[in-house]
Amino acid sequence: MRHKIVAGNWKMNNNLIETEELIKDLKNELKTVKLSEETRVIIAPSFVNLHAATKTTEESLIEVAAQNMHFAENGAYTGEVSAAMLTSLEVKTVILGHSERRSYFNEADDILVKKVNTALNNELEIIFCFGESLEDREQDNHFKVVESQLKNALFHLKSSNFTKIVLAYEPVWAIGTGKTASADQAQEMHSFIRKLLATQYNQELANSVSILYGGSVKPANAEEIFSKPDVDGGLIGGASLKAKDFTAIIKAI
Ligand code: PGA
Repeated sequence: MRHKIVAGNWKMNNNLIETEELIKDLKNELKTVKLSEETRVIIAPSFVNLHAATKTTEESLIEVAAQNMHFAENGAYTGEVSAAMLTSLEVKTVILGHSERRSYFNEADDILVKKVNTALNNELEIIFCFGESLEDREQDNHFKVVESQLKNALFHLKSSNFTKIVLAYEPVWAIGTGKTASADQAQEMHSFIRKLLATQYNQELANSVSILYGGSVKPANAEEIFSKPDVDGGLIGGASLKAKDFTAIIKAI
């Protein structure tokens, strides 16, 4: 079902104490916020702090996601984390395909297909990230690149799988750079993505998928970006590390 979603990707930040403190601060800040029923708030701390995060968020509206997982069910993959390990911690959502995973850890489409399948087999919801580089955008290839990222990693799925998929369009040139896509650029791409879903599947499915924007979303620009009809929320990096800023972004949804 299509929701409004504000998700915080904490990346490699916050130790155990800091994780618990930030969640407590966030819970406090959220006391002043009236969320509509269709709004979801998600945080994605690092693997080692997921257990503490699920405990600290108990009896709150905050949901906990993982930032990644391995594609194998289990086995000799030193240092990796499986889907079943996540579900055993009551984690119900995993971020896959983040551009930092793609560029620093060589996560290409073939690996992402396996991860997507494994996540769904384990009934995990996926926040699937994709987006073009600056070079792609400057060469006017952004629609083509986004189309191939979606096609290669997701379009083998059955339409029923899409109840477990949230899309996150994150132009690489806007991540952590302070450069945001304009609200119109975000809307243009989100509407293109929805049309792709309608063509590949059907209009009903296209209307039911939440499409988030990510890349330098801040309290100052969130409202304008979220006002666009095909933008259902945001995946927030830097600004999710401060309870006040993250709450301000949640208020903008
Ligand atoms: P940013 O990161 O908000 O710091 O640009 C977004 C993301 O990587 O998801």
